[in-house]
Amino acid sequence: MRWSSSSPSSSSSHVGLSLPLILALSISGARHAAAVTCGSGLSACGDACYNPSQYTCIGTTLCLYHCSGGTLLQGPETGGGGGGTGGGSSGSYKPVDNFSGSSFFNNFDFFTGADPTHGTVQYVSQSAAQSAGIISAGSPTVIAADTTHVQSGGRTSVRISSKKSYNTGVFLFDMNHMPTGCGTWPAVWMLGPNWPNGGEIDIVEGVNVNTNNQVTLHTSDGCTINTSQQSQTGSTLTTSCVSPGSDNSGCGVRANTGNTYGAGFNSVGGGVYATEWTTSAIKVWFFQRGSVPSDIASGGNVTPANWGTPMAHFPLGGSCAASHFSNMQIVLDLTFCGDWAGSVYGPGCTGGSGNAACQYLVINYPQNFKEAYWSINSIRTFTAA
Ligand SMILES: *[C@@H]1O[C@H](CO)[C@@H](O)[C@H](O)[C@H]1NC(C)=O
Repeated sequence: MRWSSSSPSSSSSHVGLSLPLILALSISGARHAAAVTCGSGLSACGDACYNPSQYTCIGTTLCLYHCSGGTLLQGPETGGGGGGTGGGSSGSYKPVDNFSGSSFFNNFDFFTGADPTHGTVQYVSQSAAQSAGIISAGSPTVIAADTTHVQSGGRTSVRISSKKSYNTGVFLFDMNHMPTGCGTWPAVWMLGPNWPNGGEIDIVEGVNVNTNNQVTLHTSDGCTINTSQQSQTGSTLTTSCVSPGSDNSGCGVRANTGNTYGAGFNSVGGGVYATEWTTSAIKVWFFQRGSVPSDIASGGNVTPANWGTPMAHFPLGGSCAASHFSNMQIVLDLTFCGDWAGSVYGPGCTGGSGNAACQYLVINYPQNFKEAYWSINSIRTFTAA
């Protein structure tokens, strides 16, 4: 919802696939040789998993798309443990980056332009943030906002982007605390070039006093999520990922538990957000402190196929080509009010509703933003082993 002006629950798109029935359409591709364990309701075909209500397995090739109620159910194999096509991986991943400790900020650029989401914020450089005392690299790294000054030009805050960009992999965000409170709109996300052409994956995001996380994709034309292929614990809000458009919400999934965002997340000491991005799916898990899988805790290779059902699952291929996502940077920011937090400001907060009420709070009440900070143990990246 990074660029959205709508509330988290205000819109619902339809699945717009009215394509003719296509038979015997092979989607076989390069496959991994590893043995496969498939999730519930799925079958193995060679080394891939598939939903037998949608596909037929002939030899080791998945064939035959089904037409249901005039809608073509299309896409590659789905579900946990399945082998991917092309550059997909469902196996194990080896560590690449570990952004943490005193060198944390060496891996990021600081964005100092106007907030594209129209927030009541002043994004500052690394040196300005350092002088203002709102960032501190270490164990953990802390990234906060100003909590002491009335700031008519918007609250001083930080938006950072990784110097490296990525094409598929696993990304782990180990955090103890995240910004929360009336007026806040923090996000951990990934962003490709020339938005929306390089795609956007919002991994941790919400506004104001939310406690349930929202995971959202934004793409250029031609990306709709086939809900019949989603295997997730969260609830799908919208299925068209295309942005911008009349509805700029992207395709979102909301977590069903209140420990996944904001004060709920902080009350359990946070945990680890994990994203697996392959050419066949984008999946996001949350593991609260104390329930982090042993491979993540170990610091070695990780195997997402063993992590259970994700919070959010976006199948790629079929109705949303994997090529919608490329050269993505990791972004972390905290803005205030603006397109999302401002437009839905009100419930649970003081001073009325809407963006003007939100701005009044953000500008005049610095002491209200003492909980508006990130505490980050590490951000780690992995590539297929
Ligand atoms: C990442 O680096 C930090 C120091 O910056 C270290 O304490 C930690 O053990 C490293 N984690 C892994 C998994 O290597």
